[in-house]
Amino acid sequence: MVLDLEKRTYLLVTGASRGIGQRMAVELADHLKAGSVVVLLARTEQGLAQTKSSIEALGKDLKVYIFSIDLSTAKKSQFLEILDKSLQGVNVRSFERAFILHNAGTVGDVSKSAVESSDTDDWQVYFHMNVFSVISLNCEFFRKFTGVSKLVVNITSKCGIEPYGSMSFYCSGKAAREMYFRVLAVEQENEDVLVLNYAPGAIDTEMTELVQRQSSNKELADFFKMQRDTKTMLTTGQTTQKFLKVLQEQKFKSGDHVDYWDDEE
Ligand SMILES: NC(=O)c1ccc[n+]([C@@H]2O[C@H](COP(=O)([O-])OP(=O)(O)OC[C@H]3O[C@@H](n4cnc5c(N)ncnc54)[C@H](OP(=O)(O)O)[C@@H]3O)[C@@H](O)[C@H]2O)c1
Repeated sequence: MVLDLEKRTYLLVTGASRGIGQRMAVELADHLKAGSVVVLLARTEQGLAQTKSSIEALGKDLKVYIFSIDLSTAKKSQFLEILDKSLQGVNVRSFERAFILHNAGTVGDVSKSAVESSDTDDWQVYFHMNVFSVISLNCEFFRKFTGVSKLVVNITSKCGIEPYGSMSFYCSGKAAREMYFRVLAVEQENEDVLVLNYAPGAIDTEMTELVQRQSSNKELADFFKMQRDTKTMLTTGQTTQKFLKVLQEQKFKSGDHVDYWDDEE
């Protein structure tokens, strides 16, 4: 099957102020049909405004909204408010597709090992940001777009299916988040809903810089350093191109985990 991105779309991207989310938001927007709506979420207004300008510079007839929100504390009422504000005066059924890209993510405290992370408050904040907010937003999105074709992408990681030292927050959060979307895909298999768990590879962003600086896993920190020093670390542009190809070729089954490196040399 082939997936045509050129539809009148409501596109919501979380973590759109920098990194992978910023790049994907702009590249996706470039494929959408006139009359589409793009909604960008993150905390940093300046980064969101930059993403919005890049989308507007494409010169397409799109409406772009930005909302500053802290996903580590966000409640479902805030998600509903964002959906309502961005849909004012618009009939949801006028969209050919509702597309949500759950990209925002944090890596957690990588200086600690799995047996040093005993503070439940830390876990609470981490899971609120990376799992609970994602689920809550997704539920409100589904309620709002009842009867509209839906495309749901979760930006996951190899860490969601394989353990890495110093990454207990990240690996367990990604595993929980990915399993939620796999359940969603099973439940929605007879509906017009397509779910993808996309693992982008190790990318040159603030997240991998933080791991390189702070990880107690020396092997991992050294690996990222080597990739940076030799300029072999993947870029947001490279993973976004692969992501678009994965979507458009649609060789995956709803709910699948697809990695950047699948089918690569
Ligand atoms: N980089 C990699 O190698 C890699 C590999 C596999 C998977 N991933 C995944 O890809 C996604 C994007 O990562 P990235 O590398 O682009 O990271 P990044 O550069 O650190 O960007 C993270 C994004 O999430 C947003 N965010 C962080 N905390 C937030 C909060 N409390 N509330 C709202 N938004 C928040 C940030 O915006 P604000 O700070 O403005 O809020 C930013 O837009 C994540 O899910 C990550 O796990 C990355």
